[in-house]
Amino acid sequence: MTPSHKAPPPPCAIVIFGANGDLTRRLIVPALYNLARTGLLPPRFALIGIDHNDRSTEEWRGKIRESLAQHVSKGEGAAPEIEDRYWQPIAEAMTFLKGDFGAPETYAALKLRLAACDKERELGGNALFYLATADRFFATIARNLGEAGLTRDDRGFRRLIVEKPFGHDLESAKALNACLLRQMKEEQIFRIDHFLGKETVQNIMALRFANGLFEPIWNRDRIDHVQITVSESIGVGTRGKFYEATGALRDMVPNHLFQLVAMTAMEPPVSFDAEDIRAKKAEMFKAVHPLTPADAVRGQYDSGMVQGEAVPAYRQEPNVAPDSNVETYVAMRLMIENWRWAGVPFYLRTGKRLNIRSSEIAIRFKRPPYALFHETPAEELDADWLILRIQPDEGIRLRFNAKRPGPAMALESVSMRFNYKDYFKQAPAVGYETLIYDCLTGDATLFQRADQVEAAWGVVEPVLKGWQNTVPRHFPNYAAGTEGPNAANDLLARDGRSWRAIRILGGK
Ligand code: BG6
Repeated sequence: MTPSHKAPPPPCAIVIFGANGDLTRRLIVPALYNLARTGLLPPRFALIGIDHNDRSTEEWRGKIRESLAQHVSKGEGAAPEIEDRYWQPIAEAMTFLKGDFGAPETYAALKLRLAACDKERELGGNALFYLATADRFFATIARNLGEAGLTRDDRGFRRLIVEKPFGHDLESAKALNACLLRQMKEEQIFRIDHFLGKETVQNIMALRFANGLFEPIWNRDRIDHVQITVSESIGVGTRGKFYEATGALRDMVPNHLFQLVAMTAMEPPVSFDAEDIRAKKAEMFKAVHPLTPADAVRGQYDSGMVQGEAVPAYRQEPNVAPDSNVETYVAMRLMIENWRWAGVPFYLRTGKRLNIRSSEIAIRFKRPPYALFHETPAEELDADWLILRIQPDEGIRLRFNAKRPGPAMALESVSMRFNYKDYFKQAPAVGYETLIYDCLTGDATLFQRADQVEAAWGVVEPVLKGWQNTVPRHFPNYAAGTEGPNAANDLLARDGRSWRAIRILGGK
């Protein structure tokens, strides 16, 4: 993780495979621009874009510049005007290479281009290869880079950034890891989960380990259960083809939701060193009790109204089969079997076309042990909650009981709130700045190690298998604009619990 006073990374060539893709335009180059604004780009660098379509460097640069302003800020930070003093050094460093990802000639040409850039800009042999392509190319590119001798350089570092999806089940994740590890060492590989680029996700560690208050109650003695929600109001939009092959479980759970679980449930590391943190996360995944299909619920959205707008059912979306059984919602119950968490369920849910966009980790504390207030027996008191809001209204809220003013001893649930935007000025960011900076400086804290990725797939594997072999009943089973299928409520009702309402931080 980056220190508060950061220094620019060393000189480096950044090679983007998939240079004409969405990710490059929407996130990677805008993040580089934001790094330039904060003085955190390498002092000397080259930006080499590779893709299979015919495009000149001029055209590539022009296309990216066209939509840059629109992308440099996501969220509430005001979109700044693009300033030439930051854009020019990036534009000058850009060079486009047309090439087929599977053709050895592409890598021979890349080798020449890299050598030329290195000589001209004195990059010390350092290169970062960014796989911003469809996942079917990951293994091919890594193998070709290795065979062309590009994964090692005596003078500098060679690193690889791999985007999600990292495999589509345990077997394919293992095969991909094995393929990458044949070409380079684990410490050269940076597997991105963009949720770890979110400030509020990184803040979970600060909350837990920079304060003396929370850690002593962060366990089975005081915590009743944890609810993790990543609710999206968007549908699958133009990604029907991808989604039909993926579904909500693969798309969100072993990666994004499990990162939230790991941040919440991991043991304190002995240091903030990448290996120490990653070891604790891997240990946590090892402690998850094997799931069965009964621990999970799936759903698919029907047509409905989302924030006043009529939207179609999943089965009516472009490139989706009219009888598709792919899930757009998943809820599950995880048990972590270790001394800290034994007996404390972690309930997870995520879905598309829910009522609002809202992500949070809600920790419910146990009730007081004794009914002191006779008008309100202990079992009727509202529970205490600590809610970590990830998006869109980033903050922390503590809900507890207070006495309502007046002669009677009447209790009411109240909340204390900390909102990020009240304390910290938001710099324009796309959420990839820290991740890219960390790769450039070789800090792997926020990236997934091979064992972590495989452990996460291992956890969801029984559910994936179970779902493959059974046709879901009653699909579609939730209307767009609602909080998901009723079956998700039954999952908690079985344990005598219920979900929190999905809503924005305002209100009670
Ligand atoms: C992506 C998923 O990884 O994360 C998308 O493929 C999902 O389906 C997205 O919408 C959510 O990320 P964010 O940052 O918009 O919450």
